[in-house]
This record gives sequence, structure tokens and C-alpha cells, in this order.
Amino acid sequence: MRPQWRGVIEEYRDRLPVSADTPVVTLCEGGTPLVRSEPLSAETGCQVWLKYDGANPTGSFKDRGMTLAISKALEEGAKAIVCASTGNTSASAAAYAAKAGLTCAVLVPKGKVALGKMAQTLVHGARVLEVDGNFDESLELAKDLAAHYPVTLVNSVNPYRLQGQKTAAFEICDALGRAPDMHLVPVGNAGNISSHWMGYTEYLADGVVAEPPQLFGFQAQGAAPIVRGAPVANPQTIATAIRIGNPASWEKAVAAARESEGAIAAVTDREILAAYRRLAREGLFAEPASAASVAGLIHMASEGTLTRGATVVCILTGHGLKDPEWAIQGAAHPPAVPAEAGAVAAELGL
Ligand code: F0G
Repeated sequence: MRPQWRGVIEEYRDRLPVSADTPVVTLCEGGTPLVRSEPLSAETGCQVWLKYDGANPTGSFKDRGMTLAISKALEEGAKAIVCASTGNTSASAAAYAAKAGLTCAVLVPKGKVALGKMAQTLVHGARVLEVDGNFDESLELAKDLAAHYPVTLVNSVNPYRLQGQKTAAFEICDALGRAPDMHLVPVGNAGNISSHWMGYTEYLADGVVAEPPQLFGFQAQGAAPIVRGAPVANPQTIATAIRIGNPASWEKAVAAARESEGAIAAVTDREILAAYRRLAREGLFAEPASAASVAGLIHMASEGTLTRGATVVCILTGHGLKDPEWAIQGAAHPPAVPAEAGAVAAELGL
């Protein structure tokens, strides 16, 4: 009998800031599929792998960090947690808080959270407050609240979040038996790219891998403060998860790109949606923000900046069901047929 995957804390306990006394709150997150993409490999001349973090328990990579943030909050005696979110952090925080028996408050930008994420946050019993402002304003508010009231902040400025999220890099190296040559990831609040670099540099320092990858982060064109070099007051993109104008981990992300000899670049909403549809045709349903990594890959291929034969990993950060609007929009309305095989066969052209 094979033991089941135990969640990132137990699987990587010796590399995480936990002790025997830490109460582990887990939904068995991590251990997500690394799927080889034949079409993207053929098109780019690289060995392309897709790390499907949408397969986490709440459908996004946030669970990797949330298991640690909530376990540590519980260890430190917290009774309540708070986060600001474009939707995935709040869905994850709500689920892990429910598991831990903690009160969860979330601050979301009014009218800008995808339906599935809101459903998750509500069903797990979080107190949802819609802020009359954008994500950046909501995060300031959450920080302010945590500074003055007895509530623990679980956004990625909480260092345990990044510690947990670095496990994605470990899993990729463990699966490939080496680090990839290039690692591509969407960038919003810039925590994830920073955490992945932490993971790779740790494996490098301990000799688990011989070389680190180059890290490439992709922001949406209308929400690309790092690329522009200045905060964006009114960020705009269809990829609501990364609709962020002033990322909390800005410096760390820039350092990750610089130290790894990669870059932070921007992709347009059109490129994001094209990548989103392509992934779906390969059987991977990832939300639009997730597709920014693949949009970046295709963009780099078109510019001729990829090295032939390179091993490339694109992170797909969240599940497509969270934001189903984009799947339904543009799809043809299903034709109605009588309940009769002949009619169905005729409709299908069989
Ligand atoms: N992809 C998805 C699906 C996300 O939900 C996020 C961030 C990112 C990428 C960007 O990751 O912020 O670490 O650079 N979502 C946050 C949230 C902001 O509130 O759920 P990042």
C-alpha cells in the first residue's frame, strides 16, 4: 500500500519553521501534478512542463502557504485571522480557518472577485467585507487591522506564507531530479515568485540541485507596476487575481528575477486569454491569471528568446472553475436535441 501525500508541512517538515509542538492544520495540500505539454514543447523547442497548482484543495497555490500560516497562528494562540484578497487567498484562508476552528475575516475589493472564489469564501463561513476600493487599499486596511486589533494577518506579508509556498520549487526539483532551466510564474502581489526563489536557492545551497533556474514573472499589462517601475493607481486586467497595482513583495520579486538572471515582464489580456484557451484544449483548466505564465512562454518563443532544448516549468496557479465566466463567454450555445440516438448522431455528424 502506498501512503497518501501528507501535505506540505509533513512532506517537507525539516525545511519549514515548525516544531513538534506546532499543531499542523492541513488539507493535504501540495503534491500537485507536473504535466508535460507536448504541444507547447513542439511549438517552443523546449521541454515544457506545467505545474498544476489549481489541483490544491481549495484550487490554488495559496494552500501551500496557508497550511503553515494557520498552523503557526494556532500555535501562537490566535483566535482570529484576517486577509485582503482578490479571491484565492480568501478562499484558502476561509477553508484552513474552518479546519482550525478560527474566525476568519476577509476584505475583498467590491465587485472584483470571481464567482467561484466568493462561493468558497462564503461556504467555509468567513466574514466577508466588500471594501469600496481596490486590492491594494484592502491590503492596507487588513494590515492596519492586524496592527491594532487581536487578529493575525495571513496575507503573504506573513513570512510563513512564503515559507509554505516555497515547497512548489521543492516538488518541481524532486519530480524532475534537477531544477528546470527556466521557471515561469504569474505575478500579482509578488509573493509566489519570491517564495519559489527561496525554495530553489535552499535546494541549491544544500546541494540538492546543481543549478538554479532563471525565474520569469509575468504581470498583466494593465497591472504591471514592477515592469513600469512605479505603482499603478488603477490597475486593470481581466485576470482579476493579479489585478494589483502596488505588490507587497515588490523588492523580493525584483531580487528573484535579478539573482536568477531572469526578468519580470508583462503580457496583454489578449495573450492571457489565448494561453487560457490553449491550456483548456490540453485538458488543463486554469483561471485566466494562471495562464499568464504560459502567455509569457509563448511571448518569449515569438521573440526568439528561448534556448532550444531547455527544460521549462510554467506554474498554473489556480483552477479554471473559480472564474467560469471566461469559459462560457465566446463558447457556442449547446444545440437542443430530442432524446433519440439518431437525432443526436445526426447533430454530431456521426
Ligand atoms: N495566480 C493566482 C490564481 C492568484 O490568485 C494570485 C494572487 C497570483 C497568481 C499572484 O500571486 O500575489 O503571489 O504574486 N492572488 C492573491 C489573492 C493576490 O488575494 O488571492 P502573487
